Amino acid sequence: MSGGLLLRDRRATRALALQVGRRLTGAELLLLTGELGAGKTTFVRYLAQALGLDPAWVSSPSFTLLQRYPPGPGGFGITHVDLYRLAPGDDLEPLGLEEALAGPDLVVVEWPEAGAALWAATERPTWAIRFAVDESAQRLAWVRQPKGSDPLRMKDEGR
Ligand SMILES: Nc1ncnc2c1ncn2[C@@H]1O[C@H](COP(=O)(O)OP(=O)(O)O)[C@@H](O)[C@H]1O
Ligand SMILES: [Mg+2]
Repeated sequence: MSGGLLLRDRRATRALALQVGRRLTGAELLLLTGELGAGKTTFVRYLAQALGLDPAWVSSPSFTLLQRYPPGPGGFGITHVDLYRLAPGDDLEPLGLEEALAGPDLVVVEWPEAGAALWAATERPTWAIRFAVDESAQRLAWVRQPKGSDPLRMKDEGR
């Protein structure tokens, strides 16, 4: 893949989160893919901050699978999901993802692969952000925005 955003340091990740956060109303679904350590949870922490939520709430939900952060000034919270430990075909029913998708929270999913059928079925505008680390440990991101959302304005494009 080429044409990704270069996230030189965590400030660049924060800038991306700010740009994305400005375009969210809570009704969306964000799917965050990329290998372990690529920067997904870091992005969620900065996104929470951008939305006026307490970023200290954000930790990797690898073990809990799902965490809810209470609403900020925008009037919506975040349901933060991490499906790392699940495989396609595993029963997701007990997690309450359908309820989350029908509810008021922004839904942000790390390792979304196991829930592909759910994401395909939702009418929520869906953002897909892929994170990666290159050979010199630089973080990169590729953002696919939902149709009709105002294009991001990031500096480090076109690498
Ligand atoms: N843009 C960045 N530049 C440098 N380091 C970063 C960047 N984004 C995240 N990191 C660091 O990478 C490590 C793993 O990040 P994390 O967000 O936990 O990854 P993931 O959730 O994808 O496994 C953390 O130590 C974090 O501080
Ligand atoms: Mg993570």
